[in-house]
Formats: sequence, C-alpha cells, structure tokens
Amino acid sequence: MVRPSQFTEKLQNFTQNLSLQGLYRKRQFVCDSALLNFSSNDYLSLCTHPQIKESYQEGFAKYPTGSGGSMLVCGYHPIHQELEEGFAEALQVDACILFSSGYAANLSVANLLSELESYVIVDKNIHASVYDGLKLSNVAYSRYLHNDLHSLSSKISAYPQSVVITEGVFSMSGKIPDLQKINQICRKHHSTLLVDEAHAFGIFGPQGLGSVMQHQLTQDEVPLRVIPFGKALASQGALIAGKKEWIEGLLQVARPHIYSTAMSPALTFGLLQTLKIIRAADSRRDKLQELIHYFRSKIADTVFKWEDSMSPIQQLQLGCPHQACSLADALKKQSIVCLPMRQPTVNKLETGLRISLNYDHNVADIDRLFACLLECAQLHE
Ligand SMILES: Cc1ncc(COP(=O)(O)O)c(C=O)c1O
Repeated sequence: MVRPSQFTEKLQNFTQNLSLQGLYRKRQFVCDSALLNFSSNDYLSLCTHPQIKESYQEGFAKYPTGSGGSMLVCGYHPIHQELEEGFAEALQVDACILFSSGYAANLSVANLLSELESYVIVDKNIHASVYDGLKLSNVAYSRYLHNDLHSLSSKISAYPQSVVITEGVFSMSGKIPDLQKINQICRKHHSTLLVDEAHAFGIFGPQGLGSVMQHQLTQDEVPLRVIPFGKALASQGALIAGKKEWIEGLLQVARPHIYSTAMSPALTFGLLQTLKIIRAADSRRDKLQELIHYFRSKIADTVFKWEDSMSPIQQLQLGCPHQACSLADALKKQSIVCLPMRQPTVNKLETGLRISLNYDHNVADIDRLFACLLECAQLHE
C-alpha cells in the first residue's frame, strides 16, 4: 500500500475538520428547472432571455472566441472598445476599462490606491474581493460599522483625504446605503468615494444604470464605479467606469489588466446587446419591486429575524451555521434552493439564509417559500 504523503494527511485533516464543524463547502447543480431557486443573482432573469441568447450566437459567429492575449499585448479588440464606449456614454463618464471578473476589477482598484498611497476606509461588509485587493496591495485601511454613517464620520475625521469604498447594494445584507450622505461626509473631509455597483446595476437608477446615478451623483463625486457583469447583466466579466485620469492610472498599474487575458470578443458582443436590453427593462424592474414589497409584507408574519432590506437581497439571520444548513437542507427537500451564508462570508449574527428575488419569481413562489419556512420553524420548536 502506498503511504499517504504528509500533504495527503494534512489535506485530509483539513477537510475532515471543516466537515466536523459543518463548514465544508460543496458545489452543487441548481440548474434543474423543477427547483425553485432563491440563490441566483440573475435579478432580471436575463440569463435565458431569447434575444440575448441570439446576440451571443451572433457574437460567436462574427467574432473570435478568445481575445488571444492581455489587452496590452494583442488582446484588445474593437468590440471591447465599443462596449467600453457604450457604458461610458450610458453612465456619463469619461472612460471605462473591461476586466475578466469583478474580483479582478476590485484587485485593480487596490493596485491604483496603493500607487496613490491612499488611506482607505471601507464598510465592514464590503465584498471579499475589495478586502483581498487591499491586503494584496498592502493598502492601509480601516472599517466602519455596516452602513453606519456615524461610524463612518468618526473614522473619517481621524483620516481626512482618504478613500471610502462602499457597495451600491450590499451583497449579503441587501441594504442600500445613502450615497448622497456618504458623499457629503467624504466632501467634508476632502475624501473620495468609490462604489461597487455589483448588485445595484440593472436594478436601481434611471434605466437600471446603478446606485450612483440613482443618488444623482456623477464621476465628479465618484471617480470610479466597479460594475461586475455576473449579476443582472447575466454574463461574466466586469468593467470599471470613471474619470479620465483615474482610468488612465488604472491602465498603468492594474495587474489583472496587464497580466491576464482579455475577455472573449464574442462574449463582449453579447454584452453590448444586453446593455441595450437592460436599459429598456423598466417593466422587469417594476415587477421586481412589486415582488420585494410583497416579500416584505410576508416577513412581518414570521418569527424569524430579518435584515431590513428594500433590495432583491433579503437576509434571514439565524446566528448559527448548523441551523442555517439544516434549514437550507429542509428547503431543498421541498425543491427550494436557498443556500446558507455563514462565516467568514458573513459574521456569526448574520449567519443564515440569503434570499435573492428574481424577475421570474411570482407571488405563489414567495408564498411557497414562506409556507416551507413556517413549517420548518414549527418542526424545530
Ligand atoms: C459586491 C461584489 N463585488 C464584486 C464581486 C466579484 O464579481 P465577479 O463574480 O465578477 O468576480 C461580487 C461577486 O460576488 C460582488 O458581490
């Protein structure tokens, strides 16, 4: 018998320990159409939109499947520039740059902040990609309490001329920060505000163009916006939009731009068409808002603790990973997908279920979810 190497043993111990703590992460298929999925970020249900699918087919017929290199080598294609210009016109910014993911885009922002030697203040619940970027780029930073403007004010007064980073809609709590007020605090302390629009783009603002526009801010107040394409835009990749000098700075220092293959030109064509469809999708946004209001009316009748959210993301707080997993398992048995969120993605108190409402849901789906939640709660009493 072959003796397991020291690494095999270490790896087995590592994963076994996670299993024992109920923290072992597994991938699973949730594409079965018989399942009722409350875990997808496809907020406008565009992933299966026939016109968008046709555009991707046209894109793959007309353009190369791969870009062939990083944008600085030979991977920058005219269709990339067209998409960047399309977003720049829509968002009323000077320029944009494409990235292969929102994760890469946030690492790139941190590359630039390191170059600028800026001090950064982030909302405590900011996405992991922002934290990873700040750590990898050795940027000095501190955190303010989640969506708490008093906490931000007291932090920023100790660090004037800093950079504040928030999300337009928080990915875990679903909360929508008041960007106008955050901007006022930043102005008072000669600081700069940057916004990750991942969960706001497509849903909020005129033509779904995001939270910065919803709060009537411009590139003068928010010189960089990160827009990942994996949520309402029903694709993958990302873009950073903003003021000319900031985008030019990014082009010089963003390591994911310099050292990573540019996104597929064929896919980029599909995204260009998706942007047009998103801008015209007010009826989808209206229906989603109705579902959010209906969902919130149902919350009032439950014994559970919910985060106060007016976005498609609703957080059920259980405070216990085992309870979160057993509730998710019980829902799965009823063909409802609602994956648990736990540490380190959220803190202990917020450990529970994250429910994402999508355009394709209906009132009966929400009723079914609440009936199952109620049944599970009674079983655990
Ligand atoms: C707020 C936020 N920013 C960035 C990202 C990363 O985007 P991507 O999935 O394109 O890497 C995510 C995705 O989970 C996110 O929720």
